[in-house]
Amino acid sequence: MRPMAQQSEGAVAGAPWSPGELEAQLAQSLLAIGEAADLDTLGVLRSDVLGPRSRLAGWRKGLGTIAPEQRRTAGAALNAARDELEAALSQRAETLAERQRAAKLAADRLDLTEVRLSQEWSTGHLHLVTQVREELEDVFVGMGYEIAEGPEVESDWNNFTALNVPPDHPARSNQDSFYLDLGDRESFLLRTQTSPVQIRLLERGVLPLYAVAPGRVYRRDTADARHLPVFHQIEGIVIDRGVTFGDLAGTIATFTEAIFGQGTKSRLRPAHFPFTEPSAEFEITCSICGGTGCRTCGGVGWIELGGAGMVHPAVLEHAGIDPEEWSGFAFGFGIDRLAMMRHEIEDIRSFIENDARFLAQF
Ligand code: PHE
Repeated sequence: MRPMAQQSEGAVAGAPWSPGELEAQLAQSLLAIGEAADLDTLGVLRSDVLGPRSRLAGWRKGLGTIAPEQRRTAGAALNAARDELEAALSQRAETLAERQRAAKLAADRLDLTEVRLSQEWSTGHLHLVTQVREELEDVFVGMGYEIAEGPEVESDWNNFTALNVPPDHPARSNQDSFYLDLGDRESFLLRTQTSPVQIRLLERGVLPLYAVAPGRVYRRDTADARHLPVFHQIEGIVIDRGVTFGDLAGTIATFTEAIFGQGTKSRLRPAHFPFTEPSAEFEITCSICGGTGCRTCGGVGWIELGGAGMVHPAVLEHAGIDPEEWSGFAFGFGIDRLAMMRHEIEDIRSFIENDARFLAQF
């Protein structure tokens, strides 16, 4: 409610408006401003009440025709009316803007409490990556392997040096690793691979050794459809007397068939890893087309799964194991990648977006 004092200001002797007209105009404008439903309407209203074609503007033009003594009072009354309208307009604009923000927030909100009342209550289930990890563990336990674990915060020694990765190897650069501010400079990091668990198992000194070690690994990668800075690998290591490359090939053939289904073929292609010699990349026949060639495998019929090789004698020696007596193989691959291939998932980021509609499919 406007105070009475201001209402009577409008009545000015000799003014271009008749008594009561200014108050009526002001009251009507203020009412319209208070009722403006959105910012667009308010913008139109602003020019209606204050613009060059407004009644106020017309009256202001009329001031020139009245006596100077009265012109001052009449002008002041017009100014007061204008100020009051300006204040009301900006207050209304603020209210409307706030309402618009709130409405947008409400519309964008993800309702995590949503319940499908029409259906049975259902409990959740393990994340696909966890399911695949457990399946892999089961397959290897079935083959007589133990499940091992290592810490995600590793020493540079276990993650690189003991694995025969020389200090100037590009994999050590800050581009690839998250180093931690612990102890000596660059002596601890978030492990970039599960391979340091090989070192821990070798140093334990219990031979023969048949183990797999699944877990989280970290790399300084920008997330895209095929990369996440945090992902999962599973490492395998076997050390025994007389282990051959043929045993490695047989092991890979066995577990890939168990995971991807009978008839899945695997092959090894020469590669390089500092901690295995010889080294190989292993591939399987594409799980989508079965090897005839499709979009997923880029038409070649094969998909690369991971790295493998015979454990380098230098790695065994670092751990005090005699490479003349013992030999073995190691392999490692991404669990997330494997899950993507098996389930035709196109974007690895789907795994971490927590969209229940995606997760519920598996
Ligand atoms: N650690 C390797 C990688 O992350 C994979 C690998 C494991 C290769 C074991 C050989 C032997 O790429």
